[in-house]
Amino acid sequence: MDVYPVNQYDPLMPGIVIGGIAIFHVFLAQFAVGGGILLCYFQWLSMTGRSATARLFVHGYFKWLVLISFVAGAVTGVGIWFTAIQVSAPTIGGMIRNFHWIWATEYLFFLLEVFAGYMFYRYHRHLSDKACLRLLGMYAFAAWMSLFLINGIISWQLTPGGWIETHSIGAGFFNPTFWPSLFFRTIVALTLAGLVACVVVNTMSGLDRDQKQKLINYAAYLLLPMVLMPFLGAWFLAAMPEDSRSWVLGGSPAMNLFLNIAIGASLAIGGYALVGLYLQKLYINGATATLLLLLGFGATAGGEFVREGSRKPYSIRYYLYSNGIHPDQVAQMRKEGCLKDDPYPLVHGTEVAGEITTRGAKVFRRQCAACHTVWGLNSVAELTSTCDEDQMRMNIAKLQHTKPFMPPFAGNAEDLEALVRYLKWFNNRDDQQAEAEMKAEDLANIQKWLDQAGTEPMSTPPGSHESERQGKEVAEKGGAE
Ligand code: HEC
Repeated sequence: MDVYPVNQYDPLMPGIVIGGIAIFHVFLAQFAVGGGILLCYFQWLSMTGRSATARLFVHGYFKWLVLISFVAGAVTGVGIWFTAIQVSAPTIGGMIRNFHWIWATEYLFFLLEVFAGYMFYRYHRHLSDKACLRLLGMYAFAAWMSLFLINGIISWQLTPGGWIETHSIGAGFFNPTFWPSLFFRTIVALTLAGLVACVVVNTMSGLDRDQKQKLINYAAYLLLPMVLMPFLGAWFLAAMPEDSRSWVLGGSPAMNLFLNIAIGASLAIGGYALVGLYLQKLYINGATATLLLLLGFGATAGGEFVREGSRKPYSIRYYLYSNGIHPDQVAQMRKEGCLKDDPYPLVHGTEVAGEITTRGAKVFRRQCAACHTVWGLNSVAELTSTCDEDQMRMNIAKLQHTKPFMPPFAGNAEDLEALVRYLKWFNNRDDQQAEAEMKAEDLANIQKWLDQAGTEPMSTPPGSHESERQGKEVAEKGGAE
């Protein structure tokens, strides 16, 4: 099995680096999808004589849409590939191996989107209303189709469904969270587009307040589908694996916090839309509109963090751990060690005390660095700073029991001892202690704990052979104690 080194960004953890870029991308891309639909609606308002100013708005809004979705959206999209490949080449590899035709189709739709968008941008002044609507329709359709296609791949990572057994692309694509996620994202897209419209209307000179208010009230209709969000959210949660759901709903304080941010921000937007825009037909000024849009960004960020975080310990559920190790490799790596196929030296300048700490740093990079830093965010040196060596040995040997969202340790006893030495050394800088010969007694203890922990993760597919066996083992152990 090929090994690719994890790039370490200390003090930032890789998840934050990828997530930081991905959140902007998702936000922009969803805005582009909703924007296309919104423009079709306004073009129609103008063509049917319902609104005299809608045409002006379409042209003003479109410039923003093109600039933002084509430039910033494309750059951040490439940014995701660029960072994700440095953290988990096996994840990207798994996605491409399974879904290359879907990616390729998605790129075709993106091309169509760019084509339609550019044609409209360049020629709308010379085209008939009908032709404009057709171009906008093509733009909106292409943008939504790229959401449709990407959604299948992203939701497959969390809930691969029947793909796990059959490796059928159809089963993986139309997986258990595909539909709730697609509907939810479509509504988010409409909401963001409506909020951006409120900002844009405020920047349009040459309209009086009445005209602006009318446009804002039209745009507010795009926020109406938000009433479906709680149902779709519940559907999504129900389709999630049980353990992921329990972390999101309180088991993991960080994820629960992000979920609450997402819900709170969405409620604030929905509440304002309901009371302010529909019931009282209020005017939203630029500052309020911008604030609502920022809340929309907060909701998107919270939601994406929850979705990404709840996949742990997997990057592709049941198939690949976040650290790029396959579940069925663990038993062998317990025997052979985790560095057998890892030819990469440490990054120039990595601080170590000698041979053992060098090995420890490599074990860290291979098994922990995808989720932890050494000294920054979610730092392992800090998380273990109050433990003595034996506690550390046991906690790491029983990694999946220490926290169920960590994968089982995938190395031999010497690997683990080297890792403990490295982490201890990082805190106390005692070179001699770190590089002293390993004691047979310590290694025997580690081996005992590794054997007790087993090589199965805490979360296996429901009804699978392993989970039944594991359940039985736990029951037996519980009975013996
Ligand atoms: C799939 C991601 C992931 C991987 C891989 C991972 N961890 Fe963790 N680990 C976490 C998360 C998330 C926490 C929770 C942090 C918190 O509670 O603040 C955590 C917590 C810990 C803790 C604190 C446990 C406690 O009782 O509070 C230790 C120690 C730890 N990890 C060590 C490691 C080591 C060593 C490795 C590599 C062999 C590793 N982890 C691999 C995600 C991971």
